[in-house]
Amino acid sequence: MTDFTKTRTMFHLPEGVIYLDGNSLGPLPKAADARVASMMTDEWGEMLITGWNKAGWFMQPNALGDRIGQLIGAAPGSVMLGDTLSIKVYQALASALEMNPARKVVLSDSGNFPSDLYMAQGLIGSLQQGHRLEVVAPEALADRLADDVAVLMLTQVDYRTGRRHDMAALTKQAQALGIIVMWDLAHSAGAFGVDLAGSNAEFATGCTYKYLNGGPGAPAFIYVRPDIQDTVRPALSGWLGHDAPFDFERNYRPGTGMMRMRVGTPPVIQMAALEAALDIWDEVDMAALRAKSVELCEVFIAEVERQCPDVHLASPRQADQRGSQVSFTFAHGYAVVQALIARGIIGDFRAPNVMRFGFTPLYIGAEEVRVAASVLAETVNTKAYEKPEYNQRGAVT
Ligand SMILES: Cc1ncc(COP(=O)(O)O)c(C=O)c1O
Repeated sequence: MTDFTKTRTMFHLPEGVIYLDGNSLGPLPKAADARVASMMTDEWGEMLITGWNKAGWFMQPNALGDRIGQLIGAAPGSVMLGDTLSIKVYQALASALEMNPARKVVLSDSGNFPSDLYMAQGLIGSLQQGHRLEVVAPEALADRLADDVAVLMLTQVDYRTGRRHDMAALTKQAQALGIIVMWDLAHSAGAFGVDLAGSNAEFATGCTYKYLNGGPGAPAFIYVRPDIQDTVRPALSGWLGHDAPFDFERNYRPGTGMMRMRVGTPPVIQMAALEAALDIWDEVDMAALRAKSVELCEVFIAEVERQCPDVHLASPRQADQRGSQVSFTFAHGYAVVQALIARGIIGDFRAPNVMRFGFTPLYIGAEEVRVAASVLAETVNTKAYEKPEYNQRGAVT
């Protein structure tokens, strides 16, 4: 079991704020302050370049990758940390396409995050081998799986609606047709327990700044199924993925296993913050987390629908088809979210009309969810969102 009152005390949450945006950027783990400070003064400050060996910076992407692996059902040695998620998507897709050279279709769905699709378009443009990206509705995926598809590239949980794909079933169906499968777990890792190894997918990627609470700009991760690690060719052949980086050879030779998925110098300061965030996860039972997450989502849906008939549920009604977020559509959604933020209730908005709310049992409880639902209803019912200041768009929504 997990003591969520204890995990809550491990985060800094500003006074008066109900934070329902941990699906976008997790809050600050209190221990991260001291961990980063000690990395700066004791490690960087005192050890200087010797920190790569003495403080273990060099192998930290592997060590933290293994800790993330525990949360997503991946064996030790199959998850590597580094770079941004967009880069890791590119890296996984490039390797995946090479495993299926005779096929030219990358299949994805309209619930995928734009950056994943953009990276696929960029890679296809560079390859100049006649590949094409095909994007279908999530419900149309199963029917589109066929033997012309090289790679099925999906994000498990839709960033707008929270709709969750059945990872195991789709992977199985795709692999039966010879399709390589890669999953983006950005909205899954830390949202619920994932059985990545059990799904048999070849590749997965994800980020650490959402539910895992690693902080803005925290590094991403990539997973490669253990049996293919030594055969995949790394497209981003940086020196830290080389078999012997400090031999400074003229030509690239990939390192063994996940070492080849490293690219360049890892972000050591950022990894210190992530390390503190992952310490909290040591306290968490994923089944208990999921049960609490479902409870919070259900309370929110029921309370909003009871008090506010003008907004419409954009997330699946059935809990087993959702991640850990709930979205409602409303024509003035942007302004409503701004009005909520002004009252300390932080969710976010995704164009054209989606109000998103993330539910994170580590630091959010049912009472706060009830308050948030009531304030949302009041904001919509009284048209409080009409104030001009709530209708001015910022660069980040
Ligand atoms: C599913 C998904 N893929 C890719 C990205 C882009 O990640 P990054 O900005 O870290 O490259 C995001 C960011 O939110 C995302 O949610």
